[in-house]
Amino acid sequence: MYDCCIIPLNKVHNRAGNITVVEGNSDIPFETKRIYYLYDIPGGENRGGHAHKDLQQLIVATSGSFDVLLDDGKNKKIVRLNRPDYGLYVVPGIWRELFEFSSGSVCLVLASAKYDNADYIREYDEFIKYKNVLSSE
Ligand code: TYD
Repeated sequence: MYDCCIIPLNKVHNRAGNITVVEGNSDIPFETKRIYYLYDIPGGENRGGHAHKDLQQLIVATSGSFDVLLDDGKNKKIVRLNRPDYGLYVVPGIWRELFEFSSGSVCLVLASAKYDNADYIREYDEFIKYKNVLSSE
């Protein structure tokens, strides 16, 4: 949990608009292997609701805003993302939920690995068990 942090990204200002560049292993702690984005999210909808065993991610509100709940099995915190030049770095082993999406918001996710269903923990009870096993090792 405490390893999750907001990473300020660069912003190249231009009269005609801004550009933010994210290079793997320098701007963020991992090499990006996959990019996906959530959009057209209906009002009141929640996303996430899972944890990853190994995946690292950077979550960016490229447009609009939303809240991210981070839960390491002991501590919870909610981070509001609302700027395209800030990313939330999420380490492995964190339960996350995304909610309070503003209308028209876009959630960009940079991920350290390709999609792997086996890396997901989709049940909260299973997540708590997984964390307990890890901490007893
Ligand atoms: P999921 O990660 O469960 O969505 P969220 O946590 O945002 O609510 O993914 C939803 C569906 O999309 C699921 O059937 C798997 C599929 N999916 C892929 O095929 N590849 C991907 O890279 C991602 C992120 C999801």
